[in-house]
Amino acid sequence: MQSRWWLALLMQTIGQVPLSAASPSSPSSSSSSSATGPFLGTPDDAFWYDLGWYGVRPLQHFASFGASPSRPYFLLHDERCSAKKSIDDTTEGEDLIFVAPRGLSVGTPAPTIYDTRGNLVWMDTQWGQAMGVTVQQYRGEDFLTFWHGTDNGTFGEGKYYMLNSSYDVVHTMQPAPLSPGEEPLLGDLHDFVITDEGTALMTIYQKRPYDLTAGYGIKSGWIFDSLFQEVDIATGKLIFSWRASDHFAIHDTLAPLKRGFGRRSDKAFDFFHINSLGKTSTGDYIVSSRYMCAVACISGSTGAVLWQLGGRHNSFADISSGEATNMHGQHHAVWHEDTQELTVFDNGAFDKLTMAAHSRALRVRLTGIGGDNEIDDEDVDESHDKTDGKNNESGEEEDDDDDQPTAELVQAYVSPESLRAPSQGSVQILDATDTVLVGWGHVPAYTEFSADEGKPLCNVHLCPLGFTWLGWCKNYRVFKHHWVGRPSTLPSAAMRPDKKAVYVSWNGATEVRHWQLEIATIMTGGDAQFTKHGNPVEKDGFEARLAVPSEAKRVRIAALDVNGLVLAYSAAVSTSEKTVVPVMYSPPLKETMRQVVFQYAAFISLGIAGAVVLVYLAVRHRVAILTRARKVTALVITAVIAVAARVLPSRAYKYEALPTTTMSGMTELRTGERQGSRQEV
Ligand SMILES: *[C@@H]1O[C@H](CO)[C@@H](O)[C@H](O)[C@H]1NC(C)=O
Ligand SMILES: *[C@@H]1O[C@H](CO)[C@@H](O)[C@H](O)[C@H]1NC(C)=O
Ligand SMILES: *[C@@H]1O[C@H](CO)[C@@H](O)[C@H](O)[C@H]1NC(C)=O
Repeated sequence: MQSRWWLALLMQTIGQVPLSAASPSSPSSSSSSSATGPFLGTPDDAFWYDLGWYGVRPLQHFASFGASPSRPYFLLHDERCSAKKSIDDTTEGEDLIFVAPRGLSVGTPAPTIYDTRGNLVWMDTQWGQAMGVTVQQYRGEDFLTFWHGTDNGTFGEGKYYMLNSSYDVVHTMQPAPLSPGEEPLLGDLHDFVITDEGTALMTIYQKRPYDLTAGYGIKSGWIFDSLFQEVDIATGKLIFSWRASDHFAIHDTLAPLKRGFGRRSDKAFDFFHINSLGKTSTGDYIVSSRYMCAVACISGSTGAVLWQLGGRHNSFADISSGEATNMHGQHHAVWHEDTQELTVFDNGAFDKLTMAAHSRALRVRLTGIGGDNEIDDEDVDESHDKTDGKNNESGEEEDDDDDQPTAELVQAYVSPESLRAPSQGSVQILDATDTVLVGWGHVPAYTEFSADEGKPLCNVHLCPLGFTWLGWCKNYRVFKHHWVGRPSTLPSAAMRPDKKAVYVSWNGATEVRHWQLEIATIMTGGDAQFTKHGNPVEKDGFEARLAVPSEAKRVRIAALDVNGLVLAYSAAVSTSEKTVVPVMYSPPLKETMRQVVFQYAAFISLGIAGAVVLVYLAVRHRVAILTRARKVTALVITAVIAVAARVLPSRAYKYEALPTTTMSGMTELRTGERQGSRQEV
């Protein structure tokens, strides 16, 4: 299986096929240049895309924009995925796709918005790596929200940002100190949820000493505790705080305690791994724990576990023969109160440990949990009593089945390629189109399904999947939301005198329907010198190319809205000079593609050198070898492996200096590093 990935690497060394030679079956727009827009193709051709035929890092390049987003591949596209909430095109904004691919196959990681056809809408590389890019409402206004900070491999230390429709940071949130006078905690990357009450839920990881005698025999052990908080957005006041170790026994985790872990502070045991949050109308919380393999309902008054789906202390009778409760390493649990359904992304794997053939997005209906989330006649939290040591599970299961709440699998959504995500992933129900959007996390792809039948309608690879095993492109979550972007910048125009054309784009603007070229036939003079030239050109994709007549000395472009009104004009550019558009700032990467390729080359050369030495020794000292062959072979192999282990790139992707432009325009620099941990988000 992996030989085809080596084939891909070989193709990369031979040389990449120039993008212009690649012929996506239908270019997205006749008005945009050839390397922009998505690939629209067939599964057969996607195979080559995944292997790196169009580059390990197929990017879209623009003349008028200084950043290059990944060029996605559409294996399937049904009009239903691009359906507007309203047929009426006067509706502002549209449904867009929110992602943040990261890794070596991504040119510059950034929170990114695409339209439903794979055209770039917005990206801002100054943030670098971001997680959970989505749209949430606060006080009736839409905000683009995401986490940004230092990613420690399995969790994050950073803050949450809320950007308004002009992409300005309006609120920066972080957890509150646990007690007055203490340092505020840093926010973890997994979840940031704005509630209807104007509060925010956030996940936190905290390292602390812990007695791990029970279950592990480690007296002075260390754990990574999972916490969450509810904080008032306006005042920063702490409303609720919860920590997993107060309510879950460490040894109930399904994650193995790996050798050497749990004993030292630098190898703390991440037993719970909180990865999603929600709040019910009754004021309780829904928490997903990857390593308990369970989604739990937490009492908003006592913090006690009211019920849990999956894991060692599952509260539900599974009336779908185990399919509704057998989650492994799941992500992104969301409670839908109106339908009493829980949606959850079941990875079916923990990193390298695989429990299922493929990941599934699940819709599970729960019954018998009552309006107050209490389960009748049963205090489920008792089974979490930590003084108990070992729980007697057989006793629990003998409970009267009549009273036991039930879990039923309503629908499971499986990728048409049966993808299995060892980490990350998301699922979102889209009521307007009656579809379900699933992000495959560690595997940089997303699929939109019909909600009722689970039929895949759209299937998209954000980057080549062939390098997934190396972790070269990952995407934590995928969301689809209606969004109106009104950037405070101006449209950007880039003249190309050799092509007798001007290119135009406007990063983040969602209301442009047409571009109108305006020309001035003299070099001097103000706005009054400009006159419209030709008909408005329909905006179809991120960048448009407008032909420039020979009499034009200067050009500018008006962005027109649905009513033909001018939203903004680009700056005027001279038609005799190639316009230089500055490269958008992005934080430097610690490890670049070139370094990685060099490391591979060094590794392969060492292997060859080792083999040559071996052959030389075999020929030269045939007799000696015959007697000492095993020793010499072992020596050479050990040497090659030892060197290779040092030279081979870690699968991780290192980062540094994540700048953060705050409202005041201040740039704060933080050093981040993505460490070579096998475990991920
Ligand atoms: C996370 O990484 C940063 C930077 O490498 C380091 O300073 C910090 O101590 C790490 N945090 C934990 C909890 O390991
Ligand atoms: C967004 O916030 C910035 C900074 O507070 C403000 O200047 C701008 O007008 C806001 N944009 C919109 C569309 O409200
Ligand atoms: C658990 O309970 C059952 C039935 O009540 C009992 O037979 C069994 O010995 C108990 N097991 C443990 C480990 O306590």
